[in-house]
Amino acid sequence: MKTYFLQVKEVIQETADTVTLSFWHPISEQIKYKAGQFITISIPTSDGKKVKRSYSMSSSPATDTAVAVTVKRVPNGIVSNYLNDNVHTGDFLEVIEPMGSFFFEPSENANRNIFLFGAGSGITPLISIAKTVLKTEPNTKVHLLYGNRSEESIIFKKELEILESQFKDRFSVQYILSQPGSTWVGAKGRINQANTTIWLKDACVDFKKDNFFMCGPEEMMDDLKRIFELYEVSKSQVHYERFNAPMQEEDTVNTDELKKQTVKVIYDGDTHEFVVEPHQTILEAALEQDIDLPYSCQAGMCTACLGKCTDGKVKMDEEEGLTEKEIAQGYILTCVSHPMSEGVVVEID
Ligand code: FES
Repeated sequence: MKTYFLQVKEVIQETADTVTLSFWHPISEQIKYKAGQFITISIPTSDGKKVKRSYSMSSSPATDTAVAVTVKRVPNGIVSNYLNDNVHTGDFLEVIEPMGSFFFEPSENANRNIFLFGAGSGITPLISIAKTVLKTEPNTKVHLLYGNRSEESIIFKKELEILESQFKDRFSVQYILSQPGSTWVGAKGRINQANTTIWLKDACVDFKKDNFFMCGPEEMMDDLKRIFELYEVSKSQVHYERFNAPMQEEDTVNTDELKKQTVKVIYDGDTHEFVVEPHQTILEAALEQDIDLPYSCQAGMCTACLGKCTDGKVKMDEEEGLTEKEIAQGYILTCVSHPMSEGVVVEID
């Protein structure tokens, strides 16, 4: 895993609560990434620790020279609020290299439809994908369904309008607002199964060959999943990204509940027993002891540190990276997990 210290090239205020930060590439290399992937930004805290959060890139590797992320404030969001309030042009930020399995792979001769579904800050990886498709696949059409609360909260409104006029026959946006002003004449409500089915049919969707990318809140994703199940769309055509969805960044673990505990981790045929301090995650404690466990983003997003808790009780700061079923089966991400009882045993495949 590579870490960079990137200098901020520009800070753009997109809406009242959202900024885009673009970065200069390091002098020695061009950072490589795919449209839809994320980087992880680490900021220092007052007690000498670091907090990390992952953000999808809003820039396109095909059209933008700088790497950029777009960050919306969230209530109590330590990193998102810091990035909105305290970062200026010329500052340096610690950034972990691009990663993520939600990405678009261009194919120059493709002739297809790409459908994008986003709500709020879920637009971030989707605009990167839209710009990339329009540039790299001249015969492909892009359709974006984009939900927001109000006109003022639409991120990238201007940029999307420019793309629509530049690619008149190949790019279209359908906005839908849940709390529009009195002058709004567009669609009203939220993205759901009924209005999305109509929109897809109006756009002459072909469920056998078109591709679908979505990023938004859980209810939106669940509604869209039902459509794809109903029309038996192959899993390889459907791509989900969860973590740009509006969500709380607040830790779910009350730090007063945490105690120093000894944990056993079984990995690669070896059993490691070590102490986890109250301020540490299981992965942090292991790394401090030079125990070589698998990991990547250290932010509960990439699942590289997946393990199964086979004894004792563990709680995660952040559960977004796993499905409810995986959590019920005892799977944990060691980078965001704390032991909550004695005798915790974690097995890593
Ligand atoms: S290291 Fe990425 S989820 Fe834990």
